[in-house]
Amino acid sequence: MSEVREAAYQLSSKNFKFICEYVYNAAGIVLGEAKREMVYRRLTRVIRERKLADFDAYCDLLRSQPEQEKTYFINAITTNLTSFYREQHHFDYLTEHEFPKLLDERRDTKRIRLWSSASSTGEEPYSLAITTHQSFSHVLNRWDVKILATDIDSNVLATADQGVYTTNRIEGLTQSIQQRYFKKGTGANASKVKVTDDIRSLVTFKQLNLLHEWPMSGPFDVIFCRNVIIYFDKATQQDLFARYYDMLAPGGLLMLGHSENLGEYQRYFENVGRTIFRKPV
Ligand SMILES: C[S@@+](CC[C@H](N)C(=O)[O-])C[C@H]1O[C@@H](n2cnc3c(N)ncnc32)[C@H](O)[C@@H]1O
Repeated sequence: MSEVREAAYQLSSKNFKFICEYVYNAAGIVLGEAKREMVYRRLTRVIRERKLADFDAYCDLLRSQPEQEKTYFINAITTNLTSFYREQHHFDYLTEHEFPKLLDERRDTKRIRLWSSASSTGEEPYSLAITTHQSFSHVLNRWDVKILATDIDSNVLATADQGVYTTNRIEGLTQSIQQRYFKKGTGANASKVKVTDDIRSLVTFKQLNLLHEWPMSGPFDVIFCRNVIIYFDKATQQDLFARYYDMLAPGGLLMLGHSENLGEYQRYFENVGRTIFRKPV
């Protein structure tokens, strides 16, 4: 049955080209031929939800109501894969090296700013908040410690802001982290956990397209830019690295995803660990 329905939608080269250009202009995401199947799957869902006849009708809708449709379209097209403590070595580096250093260096200003710049459904910034809490809990009531978490996708941000996850999402975490930082649901919510209020209060979620102007003033001590620049072309990546550099405090850290690198921009940073880069003081 579903095959028959699927076959009813044809994604022509002309429409695919239009969709690729649209998403590139809206979010900087480069969709090549290899992503055609993914685009087809995700957008046929939208076409059904919108009760449209076909891809022609959907592309016309994007053309005629670009602003209204843009959010919906972007939310459908982004890849939001993430998990708690993904790439654990970044969090270990913070605990073992960076946070003890910042506790010492920031004892006068008592100000710490961290940014998860493609936060998806919140697992990354909450892992960052738990790691921060573990190192700074004894000073938190006197220090000004904040974590900004941003993403282009309004759906994932809504999930992130709630801080509610199915239990299987935290299964890999230590018992002590599970017990200290997650509250078990009861009754109908027995299969869910909620991030504790003290952790949630450290994080502020905001919608931000990395390609647009960044309204915050910074500077940040640590920026996570993980598993997002892979979707961008080289020129966009280099432009973003320059902006991350400006947003970092001297000595601040930029964390990239496992398959990402700074390319030409590497020469402006010191490589201090696996995909961990320090802006010189
Ligand atoms: C694969 S997830 C990575 C999540 C997390 N950083 C991690 O490593 O687990 C990529 C995220 O980048 C976001 N994204 C894509 N293009 C973006 C843009 N132009 N501005 C901001 N966020 C964007 C997507 O919405 C998605 O949530």
